[in-house]
Amino acid sequence: MRIEAVHQLYFSATGTTKTIVNEVGRCFSKKTSVHELLRGSLEQDLILGADDLLIVGMPVFVGRVPALAVPSLEKLRGDNTPAILVAVYGNRDYEDALLEMKNLLEPRGFIVVAAAAFVAQHSIFPRIAAGRPDAADMEAVRQFAAGCARKLEGFSADGPAVVVKGNFPYREYAVPPLKPGADESCTRCGACAATCPAGAIPEDAPQETDTERCIACGACIVVCPARSRAFRGRQYEETAAVFFRNNSARKEPEIFI
Ligand SMILES: Cc1cc2nc3c(=O)[nH]c(=O)nc-3n(C[C@H](O)[C@H](O)[C@H](O)COP(=O)(O)O)c2cc1C
Ligand code: SF4
Ligand code: SF4
Repeated sequence: MRIEAVHQLYFSATGTTKTIVNEVGRCFSKKTSVHELLRGSLEQDLILGADDLLIVGMPVFVGRVPALAVPSLEKLRGDNTPAILVAVYGNRDYEDALLEMKNLLEPRGFIVVAAAAFVAQHSIFPRIAAGRPDAADMEAVRQFAAGCARKLEGFSADGPAVVVKGNFPYREYAVPPLKPGADESCTRCGACAATCPAGAIPEDAPQETDTERCIACGACIVVCPARSRAFRGRQYEETAAVFFRNNSARKEPEIFI
């Protein structure tokens, strides 16, 4: 089939999902629209046609699609539109995230042509998979995109469905109890409050965090120019040490095509 336009749609709090989805999209060199859900959820239906290609990327949160991104995925409408799924996870496991994406898209008119799970630095425990995606990961991303392009040449809506890993009922979603905060180096610049997708940082008191609202995504840490925001404290350090012991063995990308 001939693709006329590519739509990239992703939620990426610390940038790794964005990096990977952008690279997949770059391999298609077509007219591209980018829908960045960190900047705001979809407010209206996004309607794609049969000659569009949708590339969806989600970070894995507790083995699932981040709950905050689900309403936007529910606003997608296809017309036998091919879709590529990308899950990005922090070297623990991606469990049901790809299956959840697939199950959200297929009833809305999309045909999943390929899916992949890539590993990236863990956004809560950055010693895990530090520096990933690395050069080898990015080469795997390009190989994956090339495989998608080959498959799309002979794409037919009636072709065999792609099978991805995952279980239903999905793993229960629970926001991790660890939350980042600011220390005394905060300059009150407001960058974190302007970025937080959960509205968890008051504009007039950006050194604070509403722990009820915070989804622990890490976006505020990345944008803080003073490096004031971070996960800290004894509970965090203890959890991080255990997490590192259990999840530091390198995992590799998994492709479903
Ligand atoms: C709330 C939360 C939950 C996470 N849950 C998992 C998980 O279940 N498995 C895993 O391997 N990584 C997990 N991670 C790590 C992220 O999936 C990983 O760091 C990803 O690269 C983040 O993408 P981003 O850079 O686009 O924000 C979690 C991160 C956060 C913030
Ligand atoms: S306060 Fe919480 S929800 Fe908001 S950007 Fe920071 S980690 Fe994400
Ligand atoms: S981005 Fe950093 S320095 Fe700026 S208000 Fe937030 S915590 Fe303070």
